[in-house]
Amino acid sequence: MKTQIGIKEGPKAEIAHQLSKLLADEFVLYTKTRHAHWNVEGPDFYDKHKMFEDQYNQLAEVVDETAERIRMLGHFAPGTLREFLELTDLTESTREGGDSKTFITELLSDHESIASRLREQIDPIGDKGKDLGTADFLTGVLRMHEKMAWMLRAHL
Ligand SMILES: [Fe+2]
Repeated sequence: MKTQIGIKEGPKAEIAHQLSKLLADEFVLYTKTRHAHWNVEGPDFYDKHKMFEDQYNQLAEVVDETAERIRMLGHFAPGTLREFLELTDLTESTREGGDSKTFITELLSDHESIASRLREQIDPIGDKGKDLGTADFLTGVLRMHEKMAWMLRAHL
């Protein structure tokens, strides 16, 4: 059945596409954070192992909420690793192990780039697209990335 929530088809498709790209970024960052959780080494191992776990759990929730937001707009969410890699602007981690500083620096830069992109997208989505629900949702996602970025930055 057609989604009739007062947003025109054009903006709805455009916003669903932007959300699909965000979903891909969140999924890649989720995976990179799990990678850090598994492979970080050093005297601060346990502390960082736990911090990365806390962060990937938050990212897993955002992955789910982003996909469901796409469905609320009447579009289908990408759900294959191939699509995620095509849609994402992030690059996968190529390192095996490393100390916490190395992992944190890499993750921090991903959080900052997602936050910067969201900051540009939110107003047009709310104003031009009249999609206040997505604008509100993305504001929460932006806040989460800002907080995680702060937590990571505070270790450097
Ligand atoms: Fe674990």
